[in-house]
Amino acid sequence: MSDYVGKTPGSKELYERAEKVLPAGVSYGIRDITPYPFYVDHAKGVKLTDVDGNIYTDYWVGHGALILGHAPDKVMDAVSKQIGRGTHFGFSHGLEVELAERLVEMVPSVEMIRYTNSGTEANMYASRLARAYTGRMGMAKIEGGWHGGYDSLHVGVHEPFDIPESAGLNPKVVEDTLVIPFNNQEAAREAAKGEKLACIVVEPVLGAGGLITPEPDYLEGLREICDETGTLLIFDEVITGFRLGPSCAQGFYGVTPDITILGKIMGGGFPIGAFCGRREIFERLDHRKYPKMEERAFHGGTFTGNPISMIAGITTLDILKDGKVYRKMDGMGEKVRTGLEDIADRSSLDATITGVASGFAIHFQKGTPKNIRDVAKNDKEKARAYYAHMLSRNIAYVSPSLPHCFTAEPHTNEDIDEYLVATEDFFKTYRE
Ligand SMILES: Cc1ncc(COP(=O)(O)O)c(C=O)c1O
Repeated sequence: MSDYVGKTPGSKELYERAEKVLPAGVSYGIRDITPYPFYVDHAKGVKLTDVDGNIYTDYWVGHGALILGHAPDKVMDAVSKQIGRGTHFGFSHGLEVELAERLVEMVPSVEMIRYTNSGTEANMYASRLARAYTGRMGMAKIEGGWHGGYDSLHVGVHEPFDIPESAGLNPKVVEDTLVIPFNNQEAAREAAKGEKLACIVVEPVLGAGGLITPEPDYLEGLREICDETGTLLIFDEVITGFRLGPSCAQGFYGVTPDITILGKIMGGGFPIGAFCGRREIFERLDHRKYPKMEERAFHGGTFTGNPISMIAGITTLDILKDGKVYRKMDGMGEKVRTGLEDIADRSSLDATITGVASGFAIHFQKGTPKNIRDVAKNDKEKARAYYAHMLSRNIAYVSPSLPHCFTAEPHTNEDIDEYLVATEDFFKTYRE
């Protein structure tokens, strides 16, 4: 780390100022880096340049949102044009319709859409809609599943999984949320018994929980359980949406949910979220069809459907639609996963690689994790040492204790080779 400190005096100075005005010196706890974060001055493609002129190759790509990398020319051009025409109308406009039409065309479950400004908000409004539509209050979520900080879903995310995830969470609010293990149909069936659940909320691939993929018939099983019990199946595709292909994870795995949560990639690098799905369910948001307040699910917000996020989303989806970008990007993902597996096989350090398409994660442990309890066996000390090593080689990702990374369109074979060489050096030199 002395090397890091030596080459980042400008970041150190900014951090000292930041600590005085931002709790922990950051805008989001997961962006904290030991001993202090590097401060980005500008970014292009997959290269971040910090205030001291150091250049990092980025495998975090804006929390996974920047599938085309930083500041892609086509998106920037479209956004620049829109800025001159107005950034926030507060009235209806054509771009919100255009983006919605693309989502209907591309994503199997989608007939109607409402926009939000984040994935957290989208989950919040979708949960409420599911409760309004079914008239049931119970919800089930997956242990280790991350849906943002919305109270009802902010349970069972981190070890030890059975204590409050945050101070200030009202226990009454989470009383109706059941936490069930990933890749376990029996637990889902048991939870849905008695027709008390409004919905089961699941990330088709456990994202922040270590990029754990579903076992072959898991998602189909959830679909069946939901159909049998009148429970709505909600796929939180904030990470997988447009990362697993133009039709999202639901197209990739061939299972259609009732409600889909989107965010990140669909905003083309600008703040966004959306909840979308079957017309009959979404009509519950229509104040003309449901004029009585107690029958209608509320949704709204000052910046919803803002023209900047809309045009950035439209431009991005138009680039992604024909699937060509994925062939290159998923190839990079495959190359890095295979390379990492090779390194792990040749090493005496225990490590397992997970992920799919353009996502990869490294778990310092034996055996392939199938759920978050398995992921929790990851040797966090080793993971942190790996993080410090990679940072010293100017390779950046999140999080230090559980490396989960994404490739983006601009990553090259040279970037991946560099990543693998740096990893191999770590595996060769690490001492317990
Ligand atoms: C699967 C999933 N759902 C929801 C969220 C929350 O989205 P946001 O950070 O935009 O509120 C995230 C964020 O990482 C996520 O990964």
